[in-house]
Amino acid sequence: MDFMNDLRFKGIEKFDRRVWLSSPTMHGDEQRWVDEAIQTNWVSTVGANISVVEKEIAGYIGVKYAIALSAGTAALHLATKLAGEKLYGQARPNAGTLAGKKVFCSDITFDASINPIAYEDGEAVFIDTEPDTWNMCPEALEKAFEIYPETKLIVVAHLYGTPGKMEEIRRIADKHGALIVEDAAESLGAKYKLHAQWVETGALGDYNCISFNGNKIITGSCGGMFLTDSKEDADKVRKWSTQSREAAPWYQHEEIGYNYRMSNVIAGVIRGQIPHLDEHVRQKKAIYERYREGLRDLPVSMNPYDEKASIPNFWLSCCIISPAAMAPHVRGEQDELWTSSPGKSSPGEILAALAAFGAEGRPIWKPMHMQPIYRAHGFITAEGNGRAKSDAYMAGGGVDVGADIFRRGMCLPSDNKMTAEQQERVIDIIHRCFE
Ligand SMILES: Cc1ncc(COP(=O)(O)O)c(C=O)c1O
Repeated sequence: MDFMNDLRFKGIEKFDRRVWLSSPTMHGDEQRWVDEAIQTNWVSTVGANISVVEKEIAGYIGVKYAIALSAGTAALHLATKLAGEKLYGQARPNAGTLAGKKVFCSDITFDASINPIAYEDGEAVFIDTEPDTWNMCPEALEKAFEIYPETKLIVVAHLYGTPGKMEEIRRIADKHGALIVEDAAESLGAKYKLHAQWVETGALGDYNCISFNGNKIITGSCGGMFLTDSKEDADKVRKWSTQSREAAPWYQHEEIGYNYRMSNVIAGVIRGQIPHLDEHVRQKKAIYERYREGLRDLPVSMNPYDEKASIPNFWLSCCIISPAAMAPHVRGEQDELWTSSPGKSSPGEILAALAAFGAEGRPIWKPMHMQPIYRAHGFITAEGNGRAKSDAYMAGGGVDVGADIFRRGMCLPSDNKMTAEQQERVIDIIHRCFE
C-alpha cells in the first residue's frame, strides 16, 4: 500500500526523525559513572556502581536484597532454577531442576519470561489472559490447578507495565501450595495494592525479576536483577551468577555455575538512570493519557488497568479495535495480509501506516500458546482445556482471550522523548486509517 499517495493521508508529513516504540533516554550522569568505572579501573563484574545500584533498587522496590545480573533473562533463569530446587531438590549437573514438572505461566508475554522453564527441563502450561489488565487470568489458573493439581510453580508477568491480578493469583497459589516467580521486566516503577497496601511490582512474587534492557523504562543497555527478602536466596543467586565458585584457593565447584553477573560499566549507566525512573513513569503516563484522549472518538480502547488496585508504569501504550470495526486482516506464521475498509481498520494497516510515516508501533506480543515452539504445550482458559476445541461438524471453538487481543490490539509509539506534536501526528494517522 502506498500511504504517501493515498488520499486519506493527504497533508501528513513524514517524521524527519524516527519516532520509536521505546528507546533509551540518557540524562548525562550515566557518562559520569561509566567514566568513573573506567578511570578507577573497575571494569569488571565487581565495583562501586554495582553495589550502589543493588542498594538503590532494593530500596526503591522495598526488598532486602537485589542481585545485579547481566540480563532480565538471567534473573528469570536463576529465579526459576531456585524455585525448582526449593520444590524438587538439587538436580544433577546435566539435568534441570524442573525435569518432568509442569509450570503454569503467563501467555501474553515475551518469551524470555518462560524459556527458563525449558532451560530447567520443565514444561510450560499457558494460562489464558483476562480482559481487565491483559495479564494472567485467575479463573483460568484455578482451572489449571483442577486439571494438573500436582503443579507447584507459577511464572507471572505484568504486561506492558500494567500489574496483573496479583491478589487473586497469590490466593490461588497459597491454596495449592505453589510458588510464584514474578517477571516485572516491563513494570519497574508500577505499584499494586495487595491486601490494602501499595507494593512495587518486583516485590510480589516469591522470586522476583526486573530488566534494564535498552527498551525498558530505565536501562543500562542491558542488565537485570533478582530481588528477594531472603538472604539465603540472594547468596545462592550471587554464587550461581559468578560460576558457583567455592571458598578454595583454586577453582572449586560443588554445583553448576553461570556467567550472569552484571558489569560495573553497565551498572554505571543504570546508576545514572535510577534518579530518573519516576520522571520516565510520569512521561509514559502523559503519553498514555494523550492517546486515550486523542483516540476517544474512534472504535478503539486503550490497554486497560485496574485504577483502584494498580498504578502502572505505562511503559507501552496500546490500543485494541472493537470487533465491529475490524477490517479484514489475516496473519500467517511470518506474513500477513490486510485490506482497507471504510470506517474500519486493522493492526496491520495502522502499523504499516505508522511505519510509512516513520513511527514505530508493534503487534501485541504473540501469545505463547500460539508460538510454533510451544504449540504442543498445554493451554488453559477460564473454561478449562483450551486445546482441541474445534470440530469439523460444529461451529465455534473455545474462548481464547489472548488470541483475540493479539488479533485486534497493537502497541503504539511510546517513546518518552516523543513530543506532543509528534504524538498528535501519530493520532491523526490512526484516525485516517478509519476513514
Ligand atoms: C516480560 C519480559 N520478560 C523478560 C524480558 C527479558 O529481559 P532481558 O532483555 O533483560 O533479558 C523482557 C524483555 O526484554 C520482557 O519484556
